[in-house]
Amino acid sequence: MRIGVLTAGGDCPGLNAVIRSVVHRAVDNYGDEVIGFEDGYSGLLDGRYRTLDLDAVSGILARGGTILGSSRLERDRLREACENASDMIRDFGIDALIPIGGEGTLTAAHMLSEAGLPVVGVPKTIDNDISSTDRTFGFDTAVGVATEAMDRLKTTAESHQRVMVVEVMGRHAGWIALESGMAAGAHGICLPERPFDPAQLVKMVEERFARGKKFAVICVAEGAHPADGTMDYGKGEIDKFGHERFQGIGTALAYELERRLGKESKPVILGHVQRGGTPTAYDRVLATRFGWHAVEAAHRGDFGRMTSLRGTDIVMVPLAEAVTELKTVPSDRMDEAESVF
Ligand code: F6P
Repeated sequence: MRIGVLTAGGDCPGLNAVIRSVVHRAVDNYGDEVIGFEDGYSGLLDGRYRTLDLDAVSGILARGGTILGSSRLERDRLREACENASDMIRDFGIDALIPIGGEGTLTAAHMLSEAGLPVVGVPKTIDNDISSTDRTFGFDTAVGVATEAMDRLKTTAESHQRVMVVEVMGRHAGWIALESGMAAGAHGICLPERPFDPAQLVKMVEERFARGKKFAVICVAEGAHPADGTMDYGKGEIDKFGHERFQGIGTALAYELERRLGKESKPVILGHVQRGGTPTAYDRVLATRFGWHAVEAAHRGDFGRMTSLRGTDIVMVPLAEAVTELKTVPSDRMDEAESVF
């Protein structure tokens, strides 16, 4: 069998672990040939690929990023790919394509599958917002990075009696903010799923200082918005990939709190630090299992589906199911987090 692999969308710790696992299972166990397309779907469209043998994936298990490179694809180019799907299969001699990616990549995978390509998807994203899988790899690493950052910020905040507003990733789903905020014992957590009122944060900080506490840490997801009429904060434009350009809620909120409280408030934007560097052991294991199961699915001819974690099992689910809606934080999980403030 000839298997094509690609990584698309925002990178994520654990991508290399999937690539390595696919190559090991396919080459070692089945004697397959594996080719890796460069820079996501654009490598597939432009015919840029290289052979991935065991040497090519040696030493990459713990490496962050992706050895294949990644990119986001504009809708027009994707349409072009779907129209040429059968030519692409013939040109590259591919028996199975394994795209590893988040919501956008899996939507593209679904379109390619509908267009006739033999596709097995592997979900990834630090946001953990893909339906039909309990977890995505990369999330555990991002939560760990954000938690450690807040642990560190607490000590410097206390020394200077400051409020720290820590902005973490999460456009539409606040999983990173929820779990890192809980793990670090943040005093406020703001999620995209529940508009927040800055007046409540002001009250919380004032009460803490009145009790003799000398600092506060607030964890805010980049996609969080204040409730209507509570603070001046606009919605951003939509970029060419269909994503909102955020206006910087961390900085805006820190400025607002400083103005209302008369206490120093500092924004800390964690940004891409959450996505860089080595994956945690949990993410390496999940990524390795996904790669193994993707190859098995390809050999069974189980196309149009993706690997998924259900409890402790890896199962295959239809791509169509995975891309219908984002997995956002349910309100009972937000209620649990609020109880620790
Ligand atoms: O989807 C993963 C993610 O890391 C989001 O959390 C974040 O909003 C986005 O990617 C950032 O994308 P880019 O790397 O293109 O700035």
